[in-house]
Amino acid sequence: MTCCHKTVILFISEAKNGFCIRDYREDDFAGIYKVYKSAFSEEPWNEYKKCSLCKVNYGIKESNDPAENCKKCSKPLKLEDYWTEKDVSDDISYAKSKEWNSVLVADSGGEILGFTWAYNISIEKDMNFLKGAQNMDCSKKTIYVDEVATAANSRGKGVATELEKKLFSKAENAGFEYVILRTDERNIAAINLYRKLGFERLLYGVSETNESKYAYDPEFNSRVYLVKKLLPGENIGGNNECKS
Ligand SMILES: CC(C)(COP(=O)(O)OP(=O)(O)OC[C@H]1O[C@@H](n2cnc3c(N)ncnc32)[C@H](O)[C@@H]1OP(=O)(O)O)[C@@H](O)C(=O)NCCC(=O)NCCS
Ligand SMILES: [Zn+2]
Repeated sequence: MTCCHKTVILFISEAKNGFCIRDYREDDFAGIYKVYKSAFSEEPWNEYKKCSLCKVNYGIKESNDPAENCKKCSKPLKLEDYWTEKDVSDDISYAKSKEWNSVLVADSGGEILGFTWAYNISIEKDMNFLKGAQNMDCSKKTIYVDEVATAANSRGKGVATELEKKLFSKAENAGFEYVILRTDERNIAAINLYRKLGFERLLYGVSETNESKYAYDPEFNSRVYLVKKLLPGENIGGNNECKS
């Protein structure tokens, strides 16, 4: 009885959401690349085109009506794609080269609706500038979520939520205790997604005027670093996992 009951719930869940989560396969690459390229072309990333000389990014609007000279290097402007297939493929290979990694896709009848990937990091070795945060123990096993994106026409259906939950569940089963990531505070959708998943900003105490001090990157003023502690069992669900 219990077994049949579970099967019914699984079926309803997949039918309702219209997608399931599974590990990346090489033949997913074209689908991932398509979502990646278009998702990061949008604001606030604006990584649609770049100057072929100095590589500064140009968003969609700027690229459609480009100035004669580059906004950064002032040389005659020649635009090229910001993210090439090789860049994205190298990113995935980098993730896969790590001791622990997970590259996941949201699949809807063979169509890739979204993806995420993450891998183990050592704060001390890989992100030493983040040491000293008060709301995490930097000596504990930690993963870094490098990428997450959902195709524009599939947003708001829980694709990113299900991808991240699966990721956290896998990481938690592998003995990881923290997840960190970085995003841009102007990216309201991402900030809300991460808040809902239980993330908070990496905290470095309070200033003299009693304001919280957070990780700060002088090169990217709006960049924020977020952390979440993995709680045993919290994200186990897996009702959106692909059947095979
Ligand atoms: C951020 C992003 C991955 C969210 O994907 P998604 O599949 O639409 O997210 P979900 O459907 O799981 O939404 C989860 C929560 O995120 C928040 N959220 C998602 N889209 C939002 C929007 N447009 N505005 C405000 N909040 C939003 C909501 O809190 C939502 O919960 P709710 O539906 O109960 O209100 C997607 O907008 C995206 O791909 N953006 C471009 C790429 C990017 O910026 N990636 C993050 C890099 S750090
Ligand atoms: Zn330039």
